[in-house]
Amino acid sequence: MKLLVTGGCGFIGSAVVRRAVAQGHAVVNLDAMTYAASPESVAEVADHPAYAFEKADIRDRPALDRILAAHVPDAILHLAAESHVDRSIDGPAAFVETNVTGTFNLLEAARRHWEGRGRPRDFRFHHVSTDEVFGSLGETGQFTEDTPYDPRSPYSATKAASDHLVRAWHGTYGLPVVLTNCSNNYGPYHFPEKLIPVVILKALQGAPIPVYGAGANVRDWLYVEDHADALLTVVQRGRIGRSYNIGGENEARNIDIVRRVCALLDERRPGNGPYAEQIAFVEDRPGHDARYAIDPSRIRDELGWRPSVTLEEGLARTVDWYLRNEAWWRTLLERRPALLERLGTFPAGKVS
Ligand SMILES: NC(=O)c1ccc[n+]([C@@H]2O[C@H](COP(=O)([O-])OP(=O)(O)OC[C@H]3O[C@@H](n4cnc5c(N)ncnc54)[C@H](O)[C@@H]3O)[C@@H](O)[C@H]2O)c1
Repeated sequence: MKLLVTGGCGFIGSAVVRRAVAQGHAVVNLDAMTYAASPESVAEVADHPAYAFEKADIRDRPALDRILAAHVPDAILHLAAESHVDRSIDGPAAFVETNVTGTFNLLEAARRHWEGRGRPRDFRFHHVSTDEVFGSLGETGQFTEDTPYDPRSPYSATKAASDHLVRAWHGTYGLPVVLTNCSNNYGPYHFPEKLIPVVILKALQGAPIPVYGAGANVRDWLYVEDHADALLTVVQRGRIGRSYNIGGENEARNIDIVRRVCALLDERRPGNGPYAEQIAFVEDRPGHDARYAIDPSRIRDELGWRPSVTLEEGLARTVDWYLRNEAWWRTLLERRPALLERLGTFPAGKVS
């Protein structure tokens, strides 16, 4: 299969690119190389004959038309997005432009490409979304594919908007789409501004490890390599027009994740005292959703997919990876020294 992967230099996109090439697919990686991109994350496939890279922005419609005409992919796996909730609080405009307008452009370019080839039924537009579109859960319950949308941050609102556009392009134009909504990913190559890398890197720096609020927010943690495997399953075998929730079956409170990561570091690279002593509770994120949990029964029952990595194992692999790959994260921190700073507290009066 020839896949056009958007956002293939990001955290999840790069895992998809590496895995797809390893599975024998041809891959065109389309990425605008924003601050969140890391070309080093796809270095292992960069010279592979089945891999091509196109630097392009999904807001640039002529570039999308040119790239689709040049490569003629069988499927588009759309991951390019602004993805950091804290940034969406400080600067929502970029989220609307990339996540909504960019997805609209890509849908239109995909439709033209698909119609130009005689509307092949085996073409796929696979839109990668998030469980955050469903809002926040209480102490019980899980999100199913039928849970009504209730996004509450600028990030999740723009992802919800893009999901609706994708469904509309199927309903109105017949574009063969599939959607996936996944829970919080973690693993190797996770960009340093996200929770687990922040914990590892702040711990190693001997700096305070920030935990928002009381750390009681619950997330369902999905190992990124498992997610990449699920995405490649859905793009090949998912039913047209259908969405699939992807979860790790690993619910945990943020504070418990932070403590486990500290304990893993204590074992592997002991500091002056237990790293957990560096934990500092800080002001919560505005509108911080309390709990997300995924009911993964559709992807399991229809496609036979389930996660392979437990949270214990995945966290251990992740910590080991960051310890072995200092050059990767040091390069990113040198490029952007403020990467580990707190964002998204939205001081009164600040408007982007
Ligand atoms: N990380 C998670 O836990 C998670 C959970 C659920 C869903 N998702 C979704 O998965 C997708 C990938 O997430 P991620 O964590 O890998 O994101 P990321 O921020 O690590 O990477 C995003 C990539 O998209 C590229 N990009 C951004 N704007 C672009 C534009 N206008 N044109 C072209 N490329 C652009 C960036 O350069 C970057 O390489 C996103 O759609 C996100 O909403 C992520």
